[in-house]
Amino acid sequence: MVKIAPSILSANFAKLGEEILDVERGGADFIHVDVMDGQFVPNITIGPLIVEAIRPVTKLPLDVHLMIEQPDRYIEAFANAGADYITVHVEACTHLHRTIQLIKSYGVKAGVVLNPATPASVLQPIIEDIDMVLLMTVNPGFGGQKFITSVLPKIAEVKAMAVRDNQDLEIEVDGGVNEETAKLCIEQGATVLVAGSAIYNQEDRREAIQKIRGN
Ligand code: DX5
Ligand code: ZN
Repeated sequence: MVKIAPSILSANFAKLGEEILDVERGGADFIHVDVMDGQFVPNITIGPLIVEAIRPVTKLPLDVHLMIEQPDRYIEAFANAGADYITVHVEACTHLHRTIQLIKSYGVKAGVVLNPATPASVLQPIIEDIDMVLLMTVNPGFGGQKFITSVLPKIAEVKAMAVRDNQDLEIEVDGGVNEETAKLCIEQGATVLVAGSAIYNQEDRREAIQKIRGN
């Protein structure tokens, strides 16, 4: 069954702990944390301090999506704050293997993120070394954007690479995921779906999660 990773970007930050517990009780599998630096993307959001604060709130794995330039500078801080997964954008890494090794050196699972316009082929040299691929289906920076349908075949491409080279790879999709687009992602082989607005803009988060999961 596909895993669901609610993005707290669309949560009410004035009661973040409760918002996280609400999706945990609603059946979420991961908590997706969007870190933005105002450089790699136009927006500024969460730092290690918030990750540290929410760590004791939930038993769910914290899936930390770094949308920042030169992510190596902050990997130790996010690892110490309690991240379970750290994903970095291939577009932001000059020495990708070094960055992935650095993440793993802290015992944290490592993933690579691709913007919508970045081809799956960039994963070939790194796929055996990583735990997760995160495919963006919007250009990162904001919640509530429209799903870019032309990314769908890339999910299947990564799935084929995983079958060949890394059976344990999680294939995560992020951006504009809702009840309808979730189906398309699952069909192509996605194993984890991030959803921000489609979960947090709903009163009943359990129902929202179930709809995205397709049950
Ligand atoms: C976008 C972030 C996403 C965002 C998704 O830059 O990486 O995780 O929160 O939000 P929705 O699901 O509303 O598109
Ligand atoms: Zn994200």
